[in-house]
Amino acid sequence: MINHETKILNSIENYDQSFHCALAFLKAEYPIALPTETVYGLAGDATSEKAISLIYQIKNRPRFNPLIAHVDGIEMAEKYCIIDPLSRQLMEIFWPGPLSFVLPLRINSKINHLASAGLKTLAVRCPCGIFKNIISHFGKPLVAPSANQSGRLSPTNAQAVYDDLKGKVPLIINGGSCVIGVESTIIKILENKAIMLRPGGVTRDEIESILNESFIENSNILNIESPGQLTSHYAPAAKIRLNAHEVFPNESLLLFGKQNIQKHGKIPYILNLSESGNLNEAALHLFSHLKRLDQPSIERIAVQTIPNIGLGEAINDRLARAAAPRS
Ligand code: TXA
Ligand code: MG
Repeated sequence: MINHETKILNSIENYDQSFHCALAFLKAEYPIALPTETVYGLAGDATSEKAISLIYQIKNRPRFNPLIAHVDGIEMAEKYCIIDPLSRQLMEIFWPGPLSFVLPLRINSKINHLASAGLKTLAVRCPCGIFKNIISHFGKPLVAPSANQSGRLSPTNAQAVYDDLKGKVPLIINGGSCVIGVESTIIKILENKAIMLRPGGVTRDEIESILNESFIENSNILNIESPGQLTSHYAPAAKIRLNAHEVFPNESLLLFGKQNIQKHGKIPYILNLSESGNLNEAALHLFSHLKRLDQPSIERIAVQTIPNIGLGEAINDRLARAAAPRS
């Protein structure tokens, strides 16, 4: 049974105290919640069976769904994984930042097998801010899935982590709201071709402009390797209805820009992801707005169409999973 008093420390006001307290828990092999530029993560020692087991337990996450190991740069990643030239080139441009790479694990790497769910590959990324500094001092990678119950909305502020995980984690570092709001893009380079496993904070166009070519289609084999991508995910309690042109009184409404919508009666909860139609602003608000619209009195959240360009691809991916049939 996990039963902690959950302490919240503000790293903007008390950086040193937050930093040292975080390190102390990590060294004792306890997972803690930390801010990243994408979403808050539930971080733990990537070499510790105890820490990783606790992460799966706290999140109630299926153990076949592997975790991302967070490193402080290319050198640390290289100790554990084999980095091909294309991945290295992209790391040099996008790290620290919201881009994860699925790479072959080195034989005899010290990463615990639970982190990669027994696969021969490991997802790695280098986050920004306090998280990166903590990894450098810790000296080893930290695995960190999003700090929420498995399948639910990802948290983009410390309060959302507290609402979901209070009593289950000993410490939440509050670093304010995340600046991107959707998780990292996950890619894999196979025979010099890039495959996107999850759209996220770095857009398809940004990566393709460096590669000078397009992503190739994801294959079924890779989907099986990444089982977490297949299931219903990012789901509020209410159902989700996409591409709404009209809305009903048992629904709340998520708008984007200035599209027309026909209202059949009084709609109790309405929020706009970005009134000016800015997709970066929309990504920033996505999870927090869904959480606020997820009221017990409503059955569904009706969502207007979001253009599938730039960060819209990641937003639409999360919305499609939130709308998928739930088991
Ligand atoms: O922005 C992010 O990436 C956040 C922050 C906290 O860093 N983390 C995050 O972790 O989104 P998580 O656990 O919620 O999502 C990780 C995804 C899962 O869908 C998993 O299936 C995939 O990464 N993944 C992990 N290791 C993999 C591997 N070896 N091969 C393929 N997919 C992998
Ligand atoms: Mg997640």
